[in-house]
Amino acid sequence: MVYQMKSKMKLMIRPLLFSLLLYCATQTLGVTIQSVPEFSSEGVIQTELEKTVSLVCLGSETEDDEELVWLRNGAAVSLKEENKNGISRVCVTPVIYEDNGATFTCHLSRNNTVRASVTLNVTYHPQLSGSEEVVVEVEAVLVLQCDIWANPPVSSVSWTLNGSTVDLTAGGFTVTSDGFTSQLSANSVEKSLHEGTYQCIVNSPVYGENSKLFNVTVTEKTMKFPLMPMIAGLVVVCLTALLAVVSRWDKITKCCKLCLK
Ligand SMILES: *[C@@H]1O[C@H](CO)[C@@H](O)[C@H](O)[C@H]1NC(C)=O
Ligand SMILES: *[C@@H]1O[C@H](CO)[C@@H](O)[C@H](O)[C@H]1NC(C)=O
Ligand SMILES: *[C@@H]1O[C@H](CO)[C@@H](O)[C@H](O)[C@H]1NC(C)=O
Repeated sequence: MVYQMKSKMKLMIRPLLFSLLLYCATQTLGVTIQSVPEFSSEGVIQTELEKTVSLVCLGSETEDDEELVWLRNGAAVSLKEENKNGISRVCVTPVIYEDNGATFTCHLSRNNTVRASVTLNVTYHPQLSGSEEVVVEVEAVLVLQCDIWANPPVSSVSWTLNGSTVDLTAGGFTVTSDGFTSQLSANSVEKSLHEGTYQCIVNSPVYGENSKLFNVTVTEKTMKFPLMPMIAGLVVVCLTALLAVVSRWDKITKCCKLCLK
């Protein structure tokens, strides 16, 4: 609406925009970026997954109808013709993981040293919730995994069994983490040691606590069916039957001829 007005109107409206919407602005030699939400003095916009970030680039008043270019991490953002001259808007919606750390730059089309930039800081918590039923056989390997990927990084990860911290040595457990997942595993499962309710609890300096439950049931070993010997056995049986029929075919036909007579 505001942006579709003619230049003169834009000049009048601009000071209003600045004060009314409490935009924050960075100005470098005639190109100005405004954003919602506003950015910090370091040019960082704080946002979250699924949110929307609106960016507006304004050429300075002397370069009012200058063609503007937007870049995302150095690659040109495609803009409609009517969204290029004097003022240009870019909307990031919904914000995704990959937008974290992305830098948006606006510059004059004719002189790319006349530019301004902002960077997105997308915060998110680990994707943890609910509970999972886990069935594992005696003597098998138990592996439980929790997502711990977050921005800012989580401050702590802990595993509990029936409400108390997992006793790593007593249960022969190992906990490993690669920054994306935390994994609790036990090599040879015993019912008395490993059955119960597990929980991984992750703490974020921004989002607080997130957790996930695992209800682990340990079952008796099932007899593994000896499949290959069985198939071999079946083949032998079939072949024998076939040979038996073939060798008898003579007699059977003869017999039938007798019957027909
Ligand atoms: C681009 O802008 C800068 C800063 O205003 C100026 O020093 C430079 O000469 C300009 N370059 C061109 C090619 O216009
Ligand atoms: C991003 O935001 C988080 C949470 O406010 C903060 O801890 C972190 O330092 C910020 N990162 C950058 C690069 O600004
Ligand atoms: C955890 O609690 C369940 C239910 O009370 C119990 O059957 C199980 O043995 C407990 N597990 C451990 C390792 O103590």
